[in-house]
This record gives sequence, structure tokens and C-alpha cells, in this order.
Amino acid sequence: MTFEIENRISASSGDYNIGLIRDDFPALSLECNGYPLAFLDSGASAQKPSKVLERMDHAYRNEYANVHRGAYTLSQQATDNYEHARKTVADFMNAKTADEIIFTRNVTSAINLVAHSYGRNFLKAGDEVIISHMEHHANIVPWQLLMEAIGIELKIAPIDDAGNFLLEDFEKLLSPKTKLVAITHVSNVLGTIVPIKTIVQLARKVGAKVLIDGCQGIVHEGVDVQSLDADFYAFTGHKLYGPSGIGVLWGKIDILNSMPPYEGGGDMIETVTFEKSTFRDAPARFEAGTPPIIEAVGLASAIDYVTDVGMDNIAIHENNILKYATSCLSAIEGLRIIGNAEKKIGIISFELDGIHPHDISTIIDSKGVAVRAGHHCAQPLMDRFGVPATTRASFGMYTNEGDIDQLAEALNYAKGIFG
Ligand code: ALA
Repeated sequence: MTFEIENRISASSGDYNIGLIRDDFPALSLECNGYPLAFLDSGASAQKPSKVLERMDHAYRNEYANVHRGAYTLSQQATDNYEHARKTVADFMNAKTADEIIFTRNVTSAINLVAHSYGRNFLKAGDEVIISHMEHHANIVPWQLLMEAIGIELKIAPIDDAGNFLLEDFEKLLSPKTKLVAITHVSNVLGTIVPIKTIVQLARKVGAKVLIDGCQGIVHEGVDVQSLDADFYAFTGHKLYGPSGIGVLWGKIDILNSMPPYEGGGDMIETVTFEKSTFRDAPARFEAGTPPIIEAVGLASAIDYVTDVGMDNIAIHENNILKYATSCLSAIEGLRIIGNAEKKIGIISFELDGIHPHDISTIIDSKGVAVRAGHHCAQPLMDRFGVPATTRASFGMYTNEGDIDQLAEALNYAKGIFG
């Protein structure tokens, strides 16, 4: 263990010391409109522990230079940090080699990379790509652009009214025409945990490749990409208690090295003449230009932090909070939870009779409660449930029952205003 984490997880009882964990996150001590901040928007972006902030500050002050470009000591140190971060990510996901880890801007850029580089070169008109009804726009629009560019067809795997992924219906969509399945690990709106391992096994039967959008998934239950055996898995740093501006695309090394570059520029080439350029292997091939140097350091630090606390401990804590919150919110008359899948993580989307989600969000903000309201970049899912928008409370490793009590109280206050 790299710091006094035994205090946060009692060695004897395995208890999760939520108080000490909250102390690690400076933003949780903020006040908002005269109330303690109840931050319930971790699904959009999580707060950062001091360890991450201090590590990035230290690196900017003492270890900063461009990477892969300088023979001098400081640049070598920055390069070592950057490549160490890649190894930290690889170990966290159990990738075979750090070369399978490509640093991107976020998940959106990771999926666009695959759609552009893999899609335009290995898919052709008439090939089918399956996504699900609960995808974020980042895992819909890149495939639609590909549809327009080369004529692939998009198939939509359905969900039921509780938000469960319907495996049998998915299986019926599979055929020899299916060349790629691009599915979220966890719905950002419903919290549904999608059975990605079974999906991979089914997709393999027809020889389809699989991409997983792990934005919400890796944060709550971790991932072992070798055991999962998908072809691509993408996640973002800022939802994993790390900085914004950095994401990860993991891909099987042979597939990555068979793909052409997505962006051209410095650091991704072997040779350049005016007639022709040749390119390096992955990951360099897909990291043109100056990369997110200090963001990589921060992401590695965030991974060290959650690894020290333990992904399993975090999952248990968040599940307890989900149960508590589901019970508190269900007790509010007129509140309807959208998304009651059998397996879900700490996200609750809901409607409150007669009050628009934007109004709810604004009113409860006046009581210090931060939630997201809107379509959550999942408009087809809103249509599926017949709503224009929802209010969404999303939890993190630091969410406590006090946050949930404050939310429930603020919602009752909102009801009183509209009452
Ligand atoms: N994808 C993020 C969310 O669900 C921004 O809020």
C-alpha cells in the first residue's frame, strides 16, 4: 500500500471509513448556497483526491517537459512518468502489454478513433454494427457518421421497461453480417450493468469484433480485459477521480497494429518525406502531437488511489448507498425512478410529478445539491421511456448517506414550491 489506506479500510473488519475517504477530497468540504455541498453528479465527472492534485502540481513544478523529444534529464523524467502511467493503466485493466494502451482525449475521441481507423478500413457497405438502446451519443453518432460515409447498417439491441439489456433479442440480431458490436458497460442514465462478457462470447460466434464503452463501468466495478476478451475498451480519466483531458483506448495489439493512423503529426511517424510517410506501431501510431503529459501522471495517481482503497470495497460501498438512496427516493410521493435493472450501479434517474428536471435541479441547487438534469446525451433512451429529460443523481466512492438525506429533503422542498 502506498499510503495510510489501512485507516480507510479497517484491516480487522474490512469496514469502509467513509469519513476518512471524504477528507481526501477537498471539494467535498465546499459550501454551496449556504449549505454543505452534496455532490451527486459523479457520473458526469468525479471530484479529485488531494493525492492526485498534489501529484500533478508536483509534476508541473518539478518534472515538466515535453515527452519523447528531449535527450535532456527533465524530458527523460517526464517521458518516464508518462510511460509509467501507461504501465499503471495496463496493470489496472490487466492488459497484456502497455503498448495496448493509447492515451486519447476522452472516450468520445477513443470511439471516433476506432470508427474512423478500424471502421473505414475493415468495414464495408452492408456490414452491420450493433449498438444498444441505452448508448450515450458518443457511441451512436460516430457509427452514424460511418453509415453515411461507407454505408454500414446500424442495429439497435433493445432493453426492457426496467432498463435490463435483453440478451435473447440481442442474440437474434447477430448474423454473419454483424462485424462489430459497440456496447456500453454501464448505462450513464439507468445505471444498468450490461452483461458484456456474455455479449463478447455471443459476438465471437459470428466472428464480430467488440468495443466496450467503459466510461461508467470501470469506475464502479473495474475490468480485466484479458478475461473479458473484447477487442476494444475505452474509458475516461475524469470519471475515475483523475483529471479531464485524458482518456484511454485499450485494444488488442494485433488489431491496433493492423489499423492505419487516425490523426497524423509528430511522434507517430517513423520517416517523413514529401512523397510518403511511414508510421510507428501502437501506441505511438495513435498519439500524434504533444500528448496529455501531466494528465497521464494524474490518471496514474488516481488509479493508485482507487486501487489502494480497493475496487471491490468501492463497489460494496456504492451498492449500499444505491440501496439507501433507492429506498429514500422511492418514499417520495410522485417520484418515479427510471431504470430498475436487476444489476445496476450507483445512478438514479427520476421524474417528479409536474416539475421539469431543469427546475428540480435549479431548486435543489439552492439547497446545496448538485445533480445533472437533461437528456444525458442519450436522446434515443429518453424517447424509449417517453420523457424529454430526467433528473439524475449519480454516486461515487465518497457519497454518504448525508448526501442522500440532503437530496431527499431538497426534493421535498421542491415539491412544496410546486405543490
Ligand atoms: N457522459 C457524462 C454523463 O453521463 C458526461 O453525464
